[in-house]
Amino acid sequence: MSKPLVLVTRQIPDAGLDLLRGQCHVALWEEDSVVPRDWVLEHIREASGVLCLLTDTIDRGVLDAAPSLKVVSTMAVGFDNIAVNECSKRGIPVGHTPGVLTETTADFSFALLMAAARRIVDGARYVKEGHWKTWSPTLFLGQDMSGATLGIVGFGRIGQAVARRAKGFGMRVLACRSTTQAPTQGEAHDDVEFVDFPTVLTESDFVSLHVPLTQETHHLIGKSELARMKNSAILVNTSRGSVIDSQALALALAVGDITYAALDVTDPEPVPLEHPLFHEPHCLIVPHIASASFATRGKMSVMAAENLLAGLHGKRLPFVVNPEVYA
Ligand code: GLV
Repeated sequence: MSKPLVLVTRQIPDAGLDLLRGQCHVALWEEDSVVPRDWVLEHIREASGVLCLLTDTIDRGVLDAAPSLKVVSTMAVGFDNIAVNECSKRGIPVGHTPGVLTETTADFSFALLMAAARRIVDGARYVKEGHWKTWSPTLFLGQDMSGATLGIVGFGRIGQAVARRAKGFGMRVLACRSTTQAPTQGEAHDDVEFVDFPTVLTESDFVSLHVPLTQETHHLIGKSELARMKNSAILVNTSRGSVIDSQALALALAVGDITYAALDVTDPEPVPLEHPLFHEPHCLIVPHIASASFATRGKMSVMAAENLLAGLHGKRLPFVVNPEVYA
């Protein structure tokens, strides 16, 4: 039997690619750049599977061009770039990589929080630019973790992992699972206080976002939410850029509605040089690397490959986004 053709839209860690190469013909976009849509449309015609990244749009047009497609597998936990409903209509399962990146991403959320609260990146830049002349009692004063209140918006796997870290730092933890509903009366989870979304915003010293991007969470943090937050608040985002209205955030930082933002994700991504956030001194931006440890990216590539192979063999994907295709 001839090997199936699969598309892989970027060089991924070898562990995952080797798994695929053992069983498939791999059409690989070899450049470290977002795969051009035309390349996808051309190669997907004959393909049985596609392993994509969060930078690739898998929409109706792509699916229409892929009559033989049996499976879509993304090397990410988030899948807002994929038209999942369209896949379901066509009976195509979609795989993703939850779980393996939870602790790595939670570590990074905390690293961003601490970098902002203790001005680590600002301090490092100051030294490298040659400004450090003497110890100073007032240089780069920041905020303490211990005793502070951390608000967690979205209490899934990563939100819970962030809460565990916060407890180790002696913080009070507030959380909301849903941004539209009040918490269930008396709900408790290892010392986490469940409150509604507005209360998380008003009472927290630091707010960390851990919701998936959906229609409901698009621009969840806008002008009025930023105005609700403490003027001293720090906002951390490792979820998706468009959960925040980035123009509103730039304005809030400029007028002092909040004090700092630490962002792994932006809208758009990458953040354009002319974007007002780019020039905000109290906005720390890193290039969407929260899950980027050697070990975790290796595991993600294997999971994505295993999801793809399962789909090619007509088996249930180990981590499927749309289980309704099996109903
Ligand atoms: C990263 O952002 C992911 O969704 O895995």
